[in-house]
Amino acid sequence: MSQVADPTAPTATATRDLTAGFKSLDRETRVDRLPLEGRLPDWLQGSLVRTAPAKWEVGGRTMRHWFDGFAMLQRFGIANGEVSFANRFLQTKAYRAAEEKGEIVYSEFATDPCRSLFGRAMSLFSPKLTDNANVNLVKLGERYIAMTETPIPVEFDGDTLETAGVAYEVPGMLTTAHPHLDRGSRGMLNYAAKIGPRNRYRFYLLSPGDTRPRVIGELPVKEPAYMHSFGLTERWLVLAEFPYVVNPISIPLSGRPYIENYRWKPELGTRITLVDRSTGEATGPFETDPFFCFHHANSYEENGSVVVDACTYGDPRIVEDLYLERLMDGEPADRAELRRFRIDLASGRIDHEQLSEGLELPRINYGSRNERPYRYVWGVDARSGWLDRIVKCDVERRETTAWSEDGCSPGEPVFVAAPEAKAEDEGVLLSIVFDSGSGRSFLLVLDAGDLSELARAEAPHHIPYGFHGQFL
Ligand SMILES: [Fe+2]
Repeated sequence: MSQVADPTAPTATATRDLTAGFKSLDRETRVDRLPLEGRLPDWLQGSLVRTAPAKWEVGGRTMRHWFDGFAMLQRFGIANGEVSFANRFLQTKAYRAAEEKGEIVYSEFATDPCRSLFGRAMSLFSPKLTDNANVNLVKLGERYIAMTETPIPVEFDGDTLETAGVAYEVPGMLTTAHPHLDRGSRGMLNYAAKIGPRNRYRFYLLSPGDTRPRVIGELPVKEPAYMHSFGLTERWLVLAEFPYVVNPISIPLSGRPYIENYRWKPELGTRITLVDRSTGEATGPFETDPFFCFHHANSYEENGSVVVDACTYGDPRIVEDLYLERLMDGEPADRAELRRFRIDLASGRIDHEQLSEGLELPRINYGSRNERPYRYVWGVDARSGWLDRIVKCDVERRETTAWSEDGCSPGEPVFVAAPEAKAEDEGVLLSIVFDSGSGRSFLLVLDAGDLSELARAEAPHHIPYGFHGQFL
């Protein structure tokens, strides 16, 4: 049964075969009306659009890591109290080449094509870099753009889910799929690592109608860190460099796929640098304990301090945990802790504290609270070793509440604010949940305030576990 759980309650023991959520999905579907239980709020009109890895087999090979799967777009359309569904593979160069040749042609996160040393050296940062945009998407102006960490963002049609082509130029070779909104220009802020004789982090702003971003600041770096996201306050871009770093020269010659070139060097600690959004000037770095993180939750300035909330791990073991072989064996994945860092700008000192003992894939009321003091983070938790509940953390009271259901594994809860909402948590959460009992997935709609279930709409099949989506 669904429940709003006490976080101190014993861990649920009933986990059926949740690994079935990693099976590839070949089927492209369109359904006008999904079976619906419960009632959707009248004001909820729009689409939850996601990109996610959906296919890991090519020819006789299986890709090695969850992050490697070919991107599939999914859209749950919500209108007049009903839910439609459509999904379609992103027709990337990587996907098309694999379909045509029956083999892996482009280098993915943790899987390389089979090729010679010469081939490897020739293909680094060349067009053989994948455009498999399976991590996240944004709507920039009127354009829908799917992204991964290579500099090849892919535009698609929001109605037909048809792939359109490369969306814009990225001023570097590695970037993030977690850009921020620049409220003033309605443009998009992101960073990229420029690799060369002198490596640099570059921060850039892309205006809605442009295809060429403007670089607003640069930082020299010897060994770039693996950073999946960054923070933003009203004044600063917040770059947290975890000591999981790479010597880029090693990538083409190592014979190892991209992520396996990174090394954990805890002796470096974690360095947080603030980059002024208007001048590009850097402050810091401010040093704290070594940790690893994929996702920042929010950042803001308060009384001479900068507050940085992020989902942290003690080390990058989570990257290893997400290799498919381990996941299919049911090996537990590390659990992220929501942690608050407070940087005192006068003294340079950083304090940190736990906000929630388990929270990953964080979402906030972004429209009203990003860059600003806030109270709520929603996410998923993995108490049993795999995603098993949706959580809501009240960061003021340090309280966490949860929704879970036996045998079910929920994905990222996307917050949608109610129109003219007064409270920060007035709205709904949308999450794609894999039900190991039925072998299918459903769109779950929760009240974002008390996590009670409002409705669910069952998809005709399972939807492989994914990462991020947006309500548009
Ligand atoms: Fe992410």
